[in-house]
Amino acid sequence: MRAKAIYPGSFDPLTNGHLDLIERGAKIFDHLVVAILQNSEKAPPLFSVPERVEMLTEAIEGLGLDNVSVATFRGLLVEFATQQHARAILRGIRAISDYEYELQMALMNRRLAPGVETVFLMSAEKYSYLSSRLIKNVFELGGSVEGLVPQTVIHRLEARAAKR
Ligand SMILES: Nc1ncnc2c1ncn2[C@@H]1O[C@H](COP(=O)(O)OP(=O)(O)OP(=O)(O)O)[C@@H](O)[C@H]1O
Ligand SMILES: [Mg+2]
Repeated sequence: MRAKAIYPGSFDPLTNGHLDLIERGAKIFDHLVVAILQNSEKAPPLFSVPERVEMLTEAIEGLGLDNVSVATFRGLLVEFATQQHARAILRGIRAISDYEYELQMALMNRRLAPGVETVFLMSAEKYSYLSSRLIKNVFELGGSVEGLVPQTVIHRLEARAAKR
């Protein structure tokens, strides 16, 4: 598809579920901008925005995806998408529980910017239960998150834990 898409999220931290979506999105779109939301309602974050930019950049370079870039934005997603001349917003659906919220956001975004389509990809089966929040909870309780997040994220989680 000759179009640019924005994949927005908080990525705190990046998971293999996110990366799977990025890889598949990069095959569909000409260019994919992974955009970290700065004014998240989810507070406080574990990793700072610059740390998340680094994690994403490392993981994307590691996969050799040269049509994917990383950006940050605050405010309205559709405003950012319009500024970037993006035709689509990419989102992932893991379970029925995602659907309700995602539908609500997609319809509001369409109302705000009818020229920007929201495109949904279904989660990879093996990552369909994964969320950043679950990763943080399991890691904090001493469980292994090996295979669920990229190696760069494991190193950063460990470095963070060692400082405590
Ligand atoms: N495992 C996954 N598979 C497919 N899509 C996913 C997965 N995890 C997140 N996504 C999608 O990525 C986008 C950004 O999600 P977000 O940054 O909220 O990640 P999250 O893992 O849900 O984090 P949190 O637990 O903090 O909400 C959303 O569209 C979300 O549905
Ligand atoms: Mg989420």
